[in-house]
Amino acid sequence: MKVNWAERLWVNSPLRFLIQERETRFFKRLRNLEPGTRCLEIGCGHGAGARIILNTFEPARLDGLDIDPFMIGLALRRQRKRTTDRLNFLVGDAQNLPYVDGSMDAVFNFGIIHHLENWRQGISEIARVLKSGGGFYFEEIYPPLYANPITRILLEHPTENRFHGPEYRTALQREGLRLLPGYKESRFAILGVAVKE
Ligand SMILES: C[S@@+](CC[C@H](N)C(=O)[O-])C[C@H]1O[C@@H](n2cnc3c(N)ncnc32)[C@H](O)[C@@H]1O
Repeated sequence: MKVNWAERLWVNSPLRFLIQERETRFFKRLRNLEPGTRCLEIGCGHGAGARIILNTFEPARLDGLDIDPFMIGLALRRQRKRTTDRLNFLVGDAQNLPYVDGSMDAVFNFGIIHHLENWRQGISEIARVLKSGGGFYFEEIYPPLYANPITRILLEHPTENRFHGPEYRTALQREGLRLLPGYKESRFAILGVAVKE
């Protein structure tokens, strides 16, 4: 599900960028990637996270995919100013990824799984496109943060079949994504890396 105007303001803000930078440094400490990998960011929005990933992990190629053509339009407009052929943006659905099995060294998710109507299908797609030994790097949030009495009024999210920590961690495990020690979790969110067995 696309973000509404209020969430767009938030995800396109400088503060959001600083949080993503900090989280990416945490990802790197948990599990670094050799330079020259093939990576994907799902729900890349306007592309800020993708540029942070590019600078932090130096992949040979990084695709940023988002369902919202408006967001991809913003990402492409910024991209034109900074020339690199390692970064590519495309419109697509994280529940039906346009990649063959085992094609990615890493998949990044900055808070989009809770936007998926069929979030388990999203996790399944991530596991499918990852190579064996590939990493799923994620920041994910739970209903007490995005569907509390205040945020429920301001933001728009799917309401059926939602997940908290236990369901999220079980879904990773079912798809053969092993959560690495050192992840951070509260009742609001989780930040960590899982490796495809
Ligand atoms: C909360 S925003 C996060 C944006 C960015 N990753 C960030 O952290 O600032 C969620 C993003 O996921 C995208 N999105 C929602 N459903 C999607 C889907 N089915 N496939 C791909 N992207 C999706 C939205 O368009 C939006 O850009």
